[in-house]
Amino acid sequence: MQHDARPGLLEISDLRIGFGSAPVVDGVSLSLAAGETLGIVGESGCGKSILSLSILGLLPAGARILSGNIRLEGRELTQLSARDLRSLRGDRISMVFQEPMTALNPVLTIGSQLSEVFRIHRGVSRQEARAMAVEALRAVGVASPETRIRNYPAQLSGGMRQRVMIAMALACRPQILIADEPTTALDVTIQAQILDLMRNLRKEYQTTILFISHDLGVIAEVSDRVAVLYSGIVVEEATTAELFSNPQHPYTRGLLAALPQPDVETLPEVLFEIPGMVPAPDDRPSGCRFHPRCPLASDQCRTAAPPVTRIGPDHRVACWEAPQ
Ligand SMILES: Nc1ncnc2c1ncn2[C@@H]1O[C@H](COP(=O)(O)OP(=O)(O)OP(=O)(O)O)[C@@H](O)[C@H]1O
Ligand code: SF4
Ligand SMILES: [Mg+2]
Repeated sequence: MQHDARPGLLEISDLRIGFGSAPVVDGVSLSLAAGETLGIVGESGCGKSILSLSILGLLPAGARILSGNIRLEGRELTQLSARDLRSLRGDRISMVFQEPMTALNPVLTIGSQLSEVFRIHRGVSRQEARAMAVEALRAVGVASPETRIRNYPAQLSGGMRQRVMIAMALACRPQILIADEPTTALDVTIQAQILDLMRNLRKEYQTTILFISHDLGVIAEVSDRVAVLYSGIVVEEATTAELFSNPQHPYTRGLLAALPQPDVETLPEVLFEIPGMVPAPDDRPSGCRFHPRCPLASDQCRTAAPPVTRIGPDHRVACWEAPQ
């Protein structure tokens, strides 16, 4: 998708990523301005995680960037060596994963894991690093951090582990934080607390955030802008307010209709669901790749892919039915 002329902190242009067959990320362009939070939403299998992992050079085995660019302040990241990528991670860009247990080491206390990050990235002594770890845990709302640092990951609740993960990701004051479904594994109350925490941290440190979720409700709580990903492409992009008040793509409208309506007194027994599923990358339909699921699909939709149209200063959509 075309994006604005103003250069962002992070610029992704026409990025294609594949596992050998059809690209799973199939020509994505996104711009992340300093200080903003960009939400990426889409159902399972749309390519959200592969897209975010590519920024950090953490693609799974077999995946390859086929074409396109990822630039951080003009510096091309797709060509960096493994060593340069390592220093980029946790220094300029860090990541919070859906399941913190996969990112935390089970045999080390959280204090020693956090201290290690400070020692490596800030070059401080063991004692200073420990004090910083305590403060970092306090900043993400962990009670009695002096005691908590002696705990192993398995001794913490899911919400507490996610706070530790966020503290680790923020330890080196990254310019960009990538959060891939950071609250999906948590229950609703804890999820709300973590979202609150992310909003506060953002206010305090002006961190630029790429926030990924399949849940548009969660995305709306934290994002300034939203990009809707469908089957490896961005089908709509707008400010959060614009996307909610004036959604244009039938897929976006479907995601919105599937949100629970808290102000409706009697909830319908079954919430709206978009019929069908995201196609596998090697089984995409002709024309608009959403057409088999779209209530507005026409013959044109079945044969030709819709171009991206700018319909407002900060609103783009790829649909034949959108106002031209
Ligand atoms: N390790 C892998 N090997 C082969 N194909 C993969 C692999 N990981 C992902 N894919 C393919 O890439 C597509 C996008 O996967 P990705 O994990 O990015 O989706 P996602 O949008 O993050 O989904 P979810 O919401 O389930 O996390 C998948 O549909 C799958 O076809
Ligand atoms: S281009 Fe056609 S099939 Fe695709 S989303 Fe728009 S109306 Fe539906
Ligand atoms: Mg994912």
